[in-house]
Amino acid sequence: QTIYLSDYKPFGYIVEAVELTFRLHPTQTRVISKIKFSPNPDAKDGEFFLHGENMTLISAKINGADISPEISAEGLRANAPNDPFVWESEVEISPETNTALEGLYMSNGMYCTQCEAEGFRKITYYPDRPDVMSVFTVRIESDLPVLLSNGNPVKMDNGVAEWHDPWPKPAYLFALVAGELVNYSGDFTTMSGKKVDLNIWVREADLGKCAFGLEALKRSMKWDEDVYGREYDLDVFNIVAVDDFNMGAMENKGLNIFNSSCVLASPETSTDANFERIEAIIAHEYFHNWTGNRITCRDWFQLCLKEGLTVFRDQSFTGDMRSHAVKRIDDAIMLRARQFREDQGPLAHPVRPESFVEINNFYTVTVYEKGAEVIGMLKRLVGDEAYKKALDLYFDRHDGEAATIEDWIKVFEDSTGRDLSQFKLWYSQAGTPHVHVSDSFEDGTYALTLRQVHKPSPGQDTKKPMVIPVAVGLLSPNGDEIVPTTVLELTEEEQTFTFDGLGAKPIPSVLRDFSAPVVLHIDQSDKDREFLLAHDTDAFNKWEAGRTLARNTLIDMITNNAEPNADFLAALESAIKDESLEPAFRALLLGLPSVDDLAQTLAGAGETPDPWEIHAERDRLKRAIAEHCNDTLADLYFAHQVQGEYSPDAVSSGKRSLTNAALAYITLVDGGQTAQRQFAAANNMTQELAALSALITIGMGEEELTDFHHRWQNDRLVMDKWFSLQTALAAPEDASGIARRLTEHAAFDWKNPNRFRSLFGGLTSNTAGFHNPDGSGYALLADWLIKLDAINPQTTARMTTAFDTWKRYDAERQAQMRGELERILGTENLSRDTYEMVSRMLKA
Ligand code: ARG
Ligand code: ZN
Repeated sequence: QTIYLSDYKPFGYIVEAVELTFRLHPTQTRVISKIKFSPNPDAKDGEFFLHGENMTLISAKINGADISPEISAEGLRANAPNDPFVWESEVEISPETNTALEGLYMSNGMYCTQCEAEGFRKITYYPDRPDVMSVFTVRIESDLPVLLSNGNPVKMDNGVAEWHDPWPKPAYLFALVAGELVNYSGDFTTMSGKKVDLNIWVREADLGKCAFGLEALKRSMKWDEDVYGREYDLDVFNIVAVDDFNMGAMENKGLNIFNSSCVLASPETSTDANFERIEAIIAHEYFHNWTGNRITCRDWFQLCLKEGLTVFRDQSFTGDMRSHAVKRIDDAIMLRARQFREDQGPLAHPVRPESFVEINNFYTVTVYEKGAEVIGMLKRLVGDEAYKKALDLYFDRHDGEAATIEDWIKVFEDSTGRDLSQFKLWYSQAGTPHVHVSDSFEDGTYALTLRQVHKPSPGQDTKKPMVIPVAVGLLSPNGDEIVPTTVLELTEEEQTFTFDGLGAKPIPSVLRDFSAPVVLHIDQSDKDREFLLAHDTDAFNKWEAGRTLARNTLIDMITNNAEPNADFLAALESAIKDESLEPAFRALLLGLPSVDDLAQTLAGAGETPDPWEIHAERDRLKRAIAEHCNDTLADLYFAHQVQGEYSPDAVSSGKRSLTNAALAYITLVDGGQTAQRQFAAANNMTQELAALSALITIGMGEEELTDFHHRWQNDRLVMDKWFSLQTALAAPEDASGIARRLTEHAAFDWKNPNRFRSLFGGLTSNTAGFHNPDGSGYALLADWLIKLDAINPQTTARMTTAFDTWKRYDAERQAQMRGELERILGTENLSRDTYEMVSRMLKA
């Protein structure tokens, strides 16, 4: 059944207050609810339907009188009075057998919940929709020592806890946790002087991995006060780490629940990248308190209202904490790899979709990351001051409400006086716009002509021109910046922008800071790109120049069997030597476009990519870089080693990313000795894993892998790395075989989403390995997706996206992938989640 945005209707009743009692039991939990309803004056129809799935109704009452509602698989319907009334019900649910990890479930003996998007309806009968907001009081009865829910604690007695959340919220923000947990605690004093107790709740053995998360939480709370003027609004803020979790984390009011991989960190077990990601996710969930919780979404079509904005906020936070330039480049790499890929394939959808079958399938990179890009463009267009004013108005006007994208846009229109109707197309038109650039120079006037091109996406054949902010700067041939960054607003299909009074034809730096999520086509010579790599003042475009040179030489090697471009090698070498550039930035310069990225480029140009060929040519270029820059790489490796105690700060991790990028190249030519030495000496996971990866990449590291397994077999998060490393880095012809063997390993717990994702996510990230022409990668994944779907639809559906590029490839690979998709689709009792994803992929 398809749900449409255009069908929105308010619920017939207002929920005045909710009281819930939980009598916890692994298979027979009783949930007793008492809910005050009153007719909603804004609703046309007063139908009383409550969502409810997978539960047994024990009793139901309206105003104290027993009733017998009409029950279906989706919920219940009853005759309700046209006046305020009290609804009471008692239901029984079974957390232990809830393997979908949605609603109330158990993970390693602890009770926990995941209600977004529509999980609350698996807990009790309720109008489970985000525009129904209410105040919750929760009583938990259990012998377990720690009993948590949203809001502030009211009382803790033997076997009973009571929580009250004074802030009205939709049911998707409900949470409950019960278990044998211990807390790592601290506190934060808010800008108005209120002391808030902070806790990270974990199992005893993980207590040593909480310190970083707690500090990150304090930094997030401070940042949201300083930058957005947002203060925390409860007496306590609790975070719980859970091992079995479908996603990264969840912003439940006052009780954030985290996948343990997204909060637990220690130098011995976590890499620099893990630390940075944990800091960002803690910030993200915390920031939701205002953008998501205090102001929530009217319906799930508005998901980007909270997610796009909150991702934008966490990206700004990371930039402030670390390096804006590096963060922008990281985000652009990610966006192109994942969101552009989604846009180019059968699953393309607008930032605000207009229909869905299963909302969980729309927690996508398009909604999240492209949604964040749209906020960034809006900020760039109106300016920092106007953005701040608009946000103040947004919080002022909509606090306590369930809002829409229209409300969001209106706030900017009202506070700036701008007409944003054309800008709003970013929310409704799917696909990545292409911007073609041409230029001319005459009589001191330089003209830049920009043309926007929109390719069709599923359900959208033609598109209108959009507002595209293109940040541009001009450099003189001697390397001076003669026109500093200016934002050109491309609003028509084609527009020319002129700059006069110039002495010579400048070198343009276009789409600075990646000012719009578009594909830029600009005919620049290698010489101009080398010039920009050396002289551009915009960090993003400086890096972009190097990346384009790398991409061009790779494409030339792949399609024309060309030799690696010697000028590129020389330009790269001089850039990485430049000690005025931060090490993390130079590490990024040493990165090459991925196999998937190159396949995307080739497919975009109408060619049929061969992942094995791409992989081989990419290897050839890596070797050429390693040989050409041999001495420089060795110098960098030794000069930037971080001495002393490990710290995950931006400067030290930047140095490690540079030395480890160098190590990967050095290992291609030194037989692995440097990496072996680093592995043996490592006292932190970053150094250990980088060395191990370098060795596996050249077909070595067998002993080290065994040693690694031996030392870390009792640490599940490190064992996840052990699995993913082997499938992600295997040679193309070995990857699916290695993956298959690993599925037989005793530690492969396929019911745990992290473990499943580490093995298969590793395999599918290994583009050449997954696309083995014998089809073994496809078949293996399909076998396991079919198996997983029966117990966990959400994670299964998400992982089917590995097949979303199937139309890019040659007839043989296409036929194999289509065959596997059809096999999945034909599975008996396939979940709605997976059915929707696979049928969309086959249809388009
Ligand atoms: N709101 C959460 C976040 O952005 C994600 C929850 C997604 N859950 C889901 N079942 N789709 O951090
Ligand atoms: Zn979020």
